[in-house]
Amino acid sequence: MTVAVLSKHVPIEETRRTEYASFKVQPISPHIGAEIRGLDLSKPLSEQQIADVKQAWADWLVLVFRDQHLDREAHKAFGRHFGRLHVHPMHHGRPDQDPEILVVKTTAKSAYTAGEGWHTDVSCDAIPPLGSLLYITQTPECGGGDTLFANMYMACEMLSPPMRTFLEGLTAVHDGAMPYIGNYRSTPPEGGYPRHEHPVITRHPVTGREVLYVNSGFTTHIVGVQRWESRAILDMCFDLLRREPKLHCRVRWEPNTLTMWDNRCTQHQAVWDYYPYSRYGERVSVVGEEPPAR
Ligand code: SIN
Repeated sequence: MTVAVLSKHVPIEETRRTEYASFKVQPISPHIGAEIRGLDLSKPLSEQQIADVKQAWADWLVLVFRDQHLDREAHKAFGRHFGRLHVHPMHHGRPDQDPEILVVKTTAKSAYTAGEGWHTDVSCDAIPPLGSLLYITQTPECGGGDTLFANMYMACEMLSPPMRTFLEGLTAVHDGAMPYIGNYRSTPPEGGYPRHEHPVITRHPVTGREVLYVNSGFTTHIVGVQRWESRAILDMCFDLLRREPKLHCRVRWEPNTLTMWDNRCTQHQAVWDYYPYSRYGERVSVVGEEPPAR
């Protein structure tokens, strides 16, 4: 009997660049995340610069821009290069707030910090945001407050072929009530928070690559299997993410850093290790498209 030995390695992508026509990038880790120096996002960007940012985003999934000085309009204008701006479901029915800006603020009085747990943003929406751009202006004086990101193409590639084939046939429910009521204790808008079904393995519309698309923040269960089977499948997927540091990069914020991530192929987690100090930022997200079945 022959025993197939599965490789635990996912090779570095040869196609990934560090030099673009209008800037160079400094990788944060071999598989995900890069810093871009030399772009001032408060100024109008040329077509070449926008095209390069889009290509670098597809290559590195998470892009970090240091020393940026943006007001809300400049932050939103940069976001609009990538699509229409998203309105967060927690903003519906709250006319006192800018619907396109999500404030991410944690102080000693906070009951929670946003995004403390692996997730992809608002995957409960029928059309979840394709990406988010978080601009942090205040970091904790004690240090910390980093954000972890994970490469979900790579998570998908680490699955064995039979497991991948099995998961490819499944869909899962993503429910906004779980984080927004369960964790944040927020009052739902009229009609409740969104709840939608998406494929467990989807395909990135730009790169065409397959992605493992379940997350512990929003995914409540797999459709069409027993609840206990669903729990075991989801725990297996969530556990892969938690225990494989090679999937990750860690962004250390400095004041006036903007980080943009692709929600279609990454997950992220905010680290609240700075109590009782404070951290402040504002996030803009960009509407995507319905996650396609592979
Ligand atoms: C989020 O989930 O968007 C918040 C991430 C962070 O604050 O680092």
